[in-house]
Amino acid sequence: MKKILITGALGQLGSELTVALRKKYGVDNVIATDIQQPEDSPVVTDGLFEILDVTNIVRMKELIEHYSVDTIIHLAALLSAVAEAKPILAWNLNMGGLINALEMAREYDLSFFTPSSIGAFGPNTPKDQTPQVTIQRPSTMYGVTKVSGELLGDYYHQKFEVDTRSVRFPGLISYDTLPGGGTTDYAVDIYYEALRKQGYASFIDKGTYMDMMYMPDAVDAIIQLMEANSEQLVHRNAYNVSAMSVAPEDFERAIKAHIPEFNLTFDVDPIRQSIAESWPNAIDTTVASKEWGFSPRFNLEKMTEDMLIQLKKKGI
Ligand code: SER
Repeated sequence: MKKILITGALGQLGSELTVALRKKYGVDNVIATDIQQPEDSPVVTDGLFEILDVTNIVRMKELIEHYSVDTIIHLAALLSAVAEAKPILAWNLNMGGLINALEMAREYDLSFFTPSSIGAFGPNTPKDQTPQVTIQRPSTMYGVTKVSGELLGDYYHQKFEVDTRSVRFPGLISYDTLPGGGTTDYAVDIYYEALRKQGYASFIDKGTYMDMMYMPDAVDAIIQLMEANSEQLVHRNAYNVSAMSVAPEDFERAIKAHIPEFNLTFDVDPIRQSIAESWPNAIDTTVASKEWGFSPRFNLEKMTEDMLIQLKKKGI
């Protein structure tokens, strides 16, 4: 990774990954792109930034040539709940953007990363210790695009020898940028509301377990996977990764250790609840650990402590 182009750089993951990559690989070697250009984001103000609609391959090509890019990190996509509300847009954006980015990787011999998700699993997938290789018949449009993305990644690797790599991210929890329309977003909202109102009405029901991970571990996982030797990688597209399997009441317990008056209630959203129920409770991450050393640092308690400190610093 010497000249990295990131799509969707202003999203929840992109905004922190951009900063981390600039720090590690140099400010002039990371080209952040997004469909919008807010004036006040460090992604825009503290380094190279270009407007890019990922469905526009002409513009994508122009940027790759202009900056002599050697790696593309393709993040631009709609998340699960928005994709369920706008399935055709989700298909067009998630698949259209992905195939353009893969085509650029083939034509310019770029290293390639794009995230898959726990959303690539479905109701028939084993729910606990979900294996790396298992049934993937998702019941959401988001999941359909993620499974298709995994298959395309393998196809471009086998057919055109593109160095494609991916992970199945769980819900990502962060304090910098809010996620946009995911099923796991409650796990971010709960911390903001714990500080603002000492209470939270969860749109995901009690007893609903999903995998989660703190953003610093997600950023490290991408860098570690992209730095791994190609020969080590058997299950390229995409590796199960997670740091914890948690339900709303687990967050309640962890938050109460810092804010004893915190009160969790439930106001369940049937759409996001049914998406959550179609996903695993806890995925098995041993293949990622074995093939490229995946090893997250934050458990629920450590993450909760840090989230509350960081959000307070932000004035929440
Ligand atoms: N966090 C994502 C979502 O909820 C899962 O990939 O949509």
